[in-house]
Amino acid sequence: MELPSLFALFTICSLCLAAPQPIAANSAAAVPVQPETIYTFNSSFIPENTLLRNNNQLLVTCTTCPYIFQLDPTQGQDQTPKLVHTFNGYGSVTGIVQLQKDVFAVSVGNYTISGGPVNGTWNIWLLDLRSYVPPSYDPSKVTAVLMGSATQATIIDGLAIVNASRGLIAGTDFQQGTIWLTDIALNRTTALITSADLGPNAGGATGPLGRAGVNGLKFRDSRLYFTTTSSGNYGYVPVNTQTGQATGGITTLFDYSFRLDDFNFAASGNVYFTTFDSSPNGGIYRRASGTPAGQNGTTEVIAEYGTNSVIANDTGSGCNVIFSAALRNQVLRARLEGAC
Ligand SMILES: *[C@@H]1O[C@H](CO)[C@@H](O)[C@H](O)[C@H]1NC(C)=O
Ligand SMILES: *[C@@H]1O[C@H](CO)[C@@H](O)[C@H](O)[C@H]1NC(C)=O
Ligand SMILES: *[C@@H]1O[C@H](CO)[C@@H](O)[C@H](O)[C@H]1NC(C)=O
Ligand SMILES: *[C@@H]1O[C@H](CO)[C@@H](O)[C@H](O)[C@H]1NC(C)=O
Ligand SMILES: *[C@@H]1O[C@H](CO)[C@@H](O)[C@H](O)[C@H]1NC(C)=O
Ligand SMILES: *[C@@H]1O[C@H](CO)[C@@H](O)[C@H](O)[C@H]1NC(C)=O
Ligand SMILES: *[C@@H]1O[C@H](CO)[C@@H](O)[C@H](O)[C@H]1NC(C)=O
Repeated sequence: MELPSLFALFTICSLCLAAPQPIAANSAAAVPVQPETIYTFNSSFIPENTLLRNNNQLLVTCTTCPYIFQLDPTQGQDQTPKLVHTFNGYGSVTGIVQLQKDVFAVSVGNYTISGGPVNGTWNIWLLDLRSYVPPSYDPSKVTAVLMGSATQATIIDGLAIVNASRGLIAGTDFQQGTIWLTDIALNRTTALITSADLGPNAGGATGPLGRAGVNGLKFRDSRLYFTTTSSGNYGYVPVNTQTGQATGGITTLFDYSFRLDDFNFAASGNVYFTTFDSSPNGGIYRRASGTPAGQNGTTEVIAEYGTNSVIANDTGSGCNVIFSAALRNQVLRARLEGAC
């Protein structure tokens, strides 16, 4: 087994990694943009996060099943998605981030659309795909290790790497209004911050999706940026990059009038949000780079894609972004940053 050496990667700093790069992109351009469908899963498979591997194969997590699949984004509906890993004993896989080439942190637990998350089932796992390579893509070569058992969490959804070499990963708990911090070297998960502003009742929205608090999470410039769903807030928490501890409280940048899901930064600094709402508010929204706190800075870029889930990653061409439309069971691609 490779598990000990995988674990050791996060205790030995000579193996330190560069921080993940933001989406590469060029200048802003005309909107709206029509997305292109890459793959439609069956109705039992609700895709959550998508992440491009360095070899440009796309990993897709499943909110309603314990699987990670791999898709080739250059192939269409005719391909057969490859089953990368099954998290036996669990029912849901949500967040995924890359800690180093082909080593990922993944959030795994139990969640159902009707019942919501099951308290105490959620953890971060390290998934090692360094031997999951072509031509065989042999799933028996994949290893997964439970990290920093988070028995206090009700769910761990969106993930962000605070310090890859130090093995610090933050994850959102939309039920408790907590951002958890998993320390891989110490194999421990603790609360980074808990706030009513991050909790399910902020904003007073109802319904299973509307009652979700803190959802998307991205780390940038010593800040953990977040979105909340019920209240539609976009803001940040300042964080010490060596310890992962919060160095201040929450700053709200804007309180949107729609329910935000996940988001990501483009290299331009523009922020793209997915939303839960139907048209006219459903779709992907842009918050222009440099928009000051208190202003919405927002343009609707893709209309009529309500119930979107997660903006995921750059396809490698520099301006396409892949995302999933959860309730359509789809993974899609859209050119959000114009000509390139
Ligand atoms: C849907 O896809 C998943 C993943 O491939 C599979 O496990 C499941 O059996 C499929 N369900 C149906 C109803 O086809
Ligand atoms: C996109 O995926 C690549 C490869 O997995 C990773 O290196 C990069 O940081 C990801 N970019 C974003 C914006 O998540
Ligand atoms: C989590 O889900 C799995 C798969 O459905 C099930 O076997 C397991 O009992 C569940 N665990 C809890 C604590 O609900
Ligand atoms: C981390 O701790 C959990 C128990 O909390 C344990 O099951 C797991 O094996 C540990 N992981 C490693 C890599 O030691
Ligand atoms: C989940 O479990 C933790 C730890 O036992 C507890 O503190 C928390 O109140 C529980 N949350 C819910 C929503 O039941
Ligand atoms: C990440 O953690 C390592 C080890 O503690 C530290 O040397 C490094 O400065 C940290 N990175 C940043 C950006 O703070
Ligand atoms: C942003 O603010 C402008 C000016 O108040 C308003 O016209 C626009 O509808 C707002 N857009 C969003 C998405 O909130």
